[in-house]
Amino acid sequence: MNNSTIFDNITELPNADVKRRADALVGFNKRFERVHNNLKLLIDQEGLIEWSNKHHKVKLPVLETILDRYPLVLLAGDAGTGKTVSAEGIADRMVRELGKDGFFLKLSTRVRGEGLHGQMGNLVNNAFDRLKQEAGKKRIAFLFIDEADAIATTRSTHQMHQEEKAAVNTLIQKIDEIRSLNGRAIIFMSTNRLHFIDEAIIRRAAIIMEFERPDENERKELFTKTLDGTGIKDKEFDKLVELTGPDKNNGLGYSFSDLTLKILPEAVAESFPNKPLSFEVLENVIKRVKPSPQII
Ligand SMILES: Nc1ncnc2c1ncn2[C@@H]1O[C@H](COP(=O)(O)OP(=O)(O)OP(=O)(O)O)[C@@H](O)[C@H]1O
Ligand SMILES: [Mg+2]
Repeated sequence: MNNSTIFDNITELPNADVKRRADALVGFNKRFERVHNNLKLLIDQEGLIEWSNKHHKVKLPVLETILDRYPLVLLAGDAGTGKTVSAEGIADRMVRELGKDGFFLKLSTRVRGEGLHGQMGNLVNNAFDRLKQEAGKKRIAFLFIDEADAIATTRSTHQMHQEEKAAVNTLIQKIDEIRSLNGRAIIFMSTNRLHFIDEAIIRRAAIIMEFERPDENERKELFTKTLDGTGIKDKEFDKLVELTGPDKNNGLGYSFSDLTLKILPEAVAESFPNKPLSFEVLENVIKRVKPSPQII
């Protein structure tokens, strides 16, 4: 397996496209702050030691405990709630704030899809080897394992093959080893099914960030941001918010991707090229296109 097959894509950070996508996300700042506050001590270890020396004249013992944490972030939630776009956006903003470069490696789902049990361990080994290579004094390397349940499934499942269990063990061991890079490598894992993820991995996560379908305020922000200039009135926006919420949809509202990748494009397609994008068009599309089912 060479690197071009293990990774779906490799992005150098900072990256203008990634930033643009992140800036368009509703609620991104709050998510970034949470991850950043949690990881800033891990990724700026030199700064932390300097701070301790400056204010206390010693390296405080408490730093050992802090620096002993795992640089692992778990992103959990339903399909289309923004886990993947948020991960790269957070990585991008993190390197910008630190004034460093970054390297974002996205582990391919294609390789895992082939179901070559014996290969899973190799895949994990190769991915972490590359991660270590790319992590440097001036550069933070991020490894993103999307749909991590495909690799990190709990070992307590009975149907699990020996080779798959071995791959989970390897993954855990690699996460442990990454600590020796002193914050120059960060691992993000995303999953639709947090309850399938191995307990040892859950326990190591510095942050578990849950992603939900957008609430009322978030839907309103999304509609008003993306439909600015259409002339749609505030009352009509409120109606769109209501129509896409759980109360009008048997308890399950529209996901972010239902709105951005289905409703909005369909409404534009229905209006183009002969009429303006109106509240009525949106209302009709919403009636026709239902929210995606929840993954359980
Ligand atoms: N916070 C948000 N604000 C605006 N749009 C969003 C937000 N989160 C997600 N989206 C939209 O939903 C799309 C899907 O997001 P993304 O692929 O990150 O979901 P996901 O949680 O990784 O889903 P899956 O579990 O299916 O991989 C994005 O391309 C974007 O258009
Ligand atoms: Mg995703």
